[in-house]
Amino acid sequence: MECRMDGRVAVITGASMGLGKAMAMKFAGSGAKVALLARRPDVLAEAKAEVAKAGTKVEAYSCDVADKAALEATWAKVIADFGQVDVLVNNAGASAAKPFESVTDAEWETDFALKIWPAIRLCRMALPGMKQRRWGRIINVLNIGAKAPTANSTPTSVSRAAGLALTKALANEGAPHNVLVNALLVGLIDSDQWVRRYNVQAGINKTYKEFIDEFAKERGVKIGRMGQAEEFANTACFLASDAGSYINGVAINVDGGLSPVV
Ligand SMILES: NC(=O)c1ccc[n+]([C@@H]2O[C@H](COP(=O)([O-])OP(=O)(O)OC[C@H]3O[C@@H](n4cnc5c(N)ncnc54)[C@H](OP(=O)(O)O)[C@@H]3O)[C@@H](O)[C@H]2O)c1
Repeated sequence: MECRMDGRVAVITGASMGLGKAMAMKFAGSGAKVALLARRPDVLAEAKAEVAKAGTKVEAYSCDVADKAALEATWAKVIADFGQVDVLVNNAGASAAKPFESVTDAEWETDFALKIWPAIRLCRMALPGMKQRRWGRIINVLNIGAKAPTANSTPTSVSRAAGLALTKALANEGAPHNVLVNALLVGLIDSDQWVRRYNVQAGINKTYKEFIDEFAKERGVKIGRMGQAEEFANTACFLASDAGSYINGVAINVDGGLSPVV
């Protein structure tokens, strides 16, 4: 089975690093034109150069997706550059873990501003064109806490559960128009955020590989290792291509069996 995306235009948020960049590379390698969104222009420029090696049209947009005005202006630029958007991947995010009683109002608001509002706004901008052309794919990247929250995981588990509800509601609205909306629930996947976590542990007496392998085992990943960003991107590409034409309104754990629920 080939997951081709020839001629499709994909917008990916948080696309300059980690899972977002891996999806951009996979999509471009499968024939898609790709718009990359993230904040830091220098990191974006490097990602754009890498993704563009696949030979399809690639543009990078420096944009804080939590900023409504910036997001709307960026969307307008994407439409001016590409003409349309066929695939939207809401991926930008950040991790945080604290006991509930220590999470401030400001931290709740920041979390929702990054993890739920940009998805709502981008879906609202993407859906009319997708419906009109009778072809569209939306993928919301969440985490396994959306279905199975652990202790110390607010506010992210709450905003991810909202992402799950958004996914299912839009899947029902999009289905009659051949606009398919699904979620991917991340467990532990090797990405730049893990490199950052390793680097802040000054004097750590283990290699990066030992660090992520031990972390995955301690957390109980059934496959016994962290996932690779390319493995995640393969699943996203399946959903974003015609190969995924009968999958709608689901939330797939991409977690090596870590989640306690299906
Ligand atoms: N990897 C995991 O194990 C894991 C686990 C659970 C959930 N997730 C979720 O999976 C998604 C991808 O994670 P990752 O591991 O690939 O993260 P990552 O390596 O830290 O990359 C995050 C990307 O998002 C961008 N970004 C962050 N804040 C942004 C903002 N306000 N506006 C625009 N872009 C922004 C970053 O670029 P700039 O900083 O330059 O903006 C970067 O391109 C996130 O939603 C994350 O919460 C990942």
